Amino acid sequence: MSNKTGLLTSSIGKKILMGITGLFLISFLLVHCFINALIFFNDGGETFNKGAEFMGTNWLIRTMEIVLFIGIFAHIFLALKLTLDNRKARPIGYQLVNGTANSTWYSRWMGLLGTLILMFLIIHLAHFWVQSRFTDNLAHTREHIVGNQITMFDRMSIVFSELWIVVLYCLSMVSLAYHLLHGFQSAFQSLGLNHKKYSPLIKTTGVAFSILIPLIFASMPLVMHFGIIK
Ligand code: HEM
Repeated sequence: MSNKTGLLTSSIGKKILMGITGLFLISFLLVHCFINALIFFNDGGETFNKGAEFMGTNWLIRTMEIVLFIGIFAHIFLALKLTLDNRKARPIGYQLVNGTANSTWYSRWMGLLGTLILMFLIIHLAHFWVQSRFTDNLAHTREHIVGNQITMFDRMSIVFSELWIVVLYCLSMVSLAYHLLHGFQSAFQSLGLNHKKYSPLIKTTGVAFSILIPLIFASMPLVMHFGIIK
């Protein structure tokens, strides 16, 4: 019997933290998608570069970046801990349960989908974030270019000129969509926000978010690769 009641030690506490970090990451995705969508102005990246400059220089955003990375690590750590705890509590696993009747395939494969997203994230950070934070290769806007620097928009054009990267990004967005399809509602449930009256609204918003956001993200490498946005 477990007498642990702490947020980090009880399984309900861990689920609550998982829900909080999940909703925080969901709100990051919304902001990130909105800023990136500035490329659709199709003005050679001028508006997008200004947005990226604001994100890269504003002190509040820079502080939130640290919180974001803590949020990502916490989300992964809690997911691993909850999975291991569940295995310990139920060593036979789900063998006797007819999984397909009780749950969707993607709710049972959240760990795998999360791992695929993590692999995407590592490659993605190397493409853009490492370049902007740890090298002098990028200038905020065209007016600020020194020597052979390029802007973030130019960097995106170069990265997405490779077809295999475009395919990788699009497939990763499929993983993200399925991860969100379960995660969005699950986060609200873990936080006890599944009131009878609001559940249908949360469900509809969750499905719309899970499809639209990855779709908009996936469209970015595609439009840049095929020269629709340049
Ligand atoms: C597929 C379309 C996407 C594009 C074109 C894109 C583009 C970018 C760019 C240009 C940056 C660098 C920002 C800067 O340093 O100023 C960045 C950073 C980042 N991206 Fe993405 N991104 C996409 C999707 C995603 C997705 C789906 C996730 C999460 C699952 C994600 C997570 C991050 C994180 C954590 C950072 C670093 C933190 C930050 O700078 O805000 N990105 N992305």
